[in-house]
Amino acid sequence: MSRMPADVKSLIQEGADLTDRALEALLPAADTVPGSIHAAMRHSTFAGGKRLRPVLAMQAAVTIAGALPAGVENLGAALEMLHTYSLIHDDLPALDNDDLRRGKPTCHVVFGEAIAILAGDALQTRAFEVLAGLACPPAAAVQIIGLVANAVGTVEGMIGGQVLDIESEHQKPTPQLVEAIHRAKTGALIRVSVAAGGVYAGATAGDVASLDIFGRKAGLAFQIIDDVLDMTVDSAHLGKTAGKDQATEKATWPAVFGIEQSQRDAADLIEEAFAALAPYGSRADGLKSVARYLVERKN
Ligand code: IPE
Ligand code: IPE
Ligand code: MG
Ligand code: MG
Ligand code: MG
Repeated sequence: MSRMPADVKSLIQEGADLTDRALEALLPAADTVPGSIHAAMRHSTFAGGKRLRPVLAMQAAVTIAGALPAGVENLGAALEMLHTYSLIHDDLPALDNDDLRRGKPTCHVVFGEAIAILAGDALQTRAFEVLAGLACPPAAAVQIIGLVANAVGTVEGMIGGQVLDIESEHQKPTPQLVEAIHRAKTGALIRVSVAAGGVYAGATAGDVASLDIFGRKAGLAFQIIDDVLDMTVDSAHLGKTAGKDQATEKATWPAVFGIEQSQRDAADLIEEAFAALAPYGSRADGLKSVARYLVERKN
């Protein structure tokens, strides 16, 4: 994060710290029986993620309410649990078969496949339990649960995207295919993080529609850059195995459009995303700066 301007750096750091404290309080202690799974959940959750989905949710809430609503860090923590679950499963031998994640050995390498599968499952169920107890009006909590469940599901959601991703290995990708994969496997959780942050803060249906347009474009841009980083940054800086996508012939944006066009596409998507935030004026500045970071990041 060293190349970021001081303000976005501290904004992300503060959001990450809030999220980490919430996660610490919300996840069972490592010695709670059965200890192996709680140690595994904590190993992957506290391995050093950027906490970008919680930070996006928080800044979307600020865009709507003008300030951070009390308790929004629990929403962030639930989103991060879901994201971490998706990473644990993404790294399994049956999916991407990776042994490095967030600079640490992957969950299945340390705890074995059975516990890693169950740790992912458990982070998912704990996330929904946390969402059910959010400190926002009950109708907003129910709306958030529905939106989030849909975004991690099979129809244009995270799981559906992962299916498309693994079934598209070793095939020549088309622009349509890679866009469908990216919107679903990664874009959907980013999009819903923004929308849920807004709903938590009292967004109207019109607000949710605007945040959704923003999140959709930012989410696609995020995965385009994930693909670019896989090809341009080494494993030590990435904290995960570099060059993996080409080795497994994944359907990536640079595989279709090349690295330079991918970087331009991501930057253009972020500019387009900003248009959806015009009604919010300077209240959206934090959200915009985090979105800019999504495409300027180096890991
Ligand atoms: C990486 O996400 C995995 C994808 C969904 C592409 P992040 O780059 O946000 O990973 P962490 O949370 O910081 O480890
Ligand atoms: C992962 O996409 C998407 C999810 C975890 C849902 P990738 O397979 O590209 O993520 P990395 O590069 O391993 O982090
Ligand atoms: Mg994958
Ligand atoms: Mg992967
Ligand atoms: Mg990747």
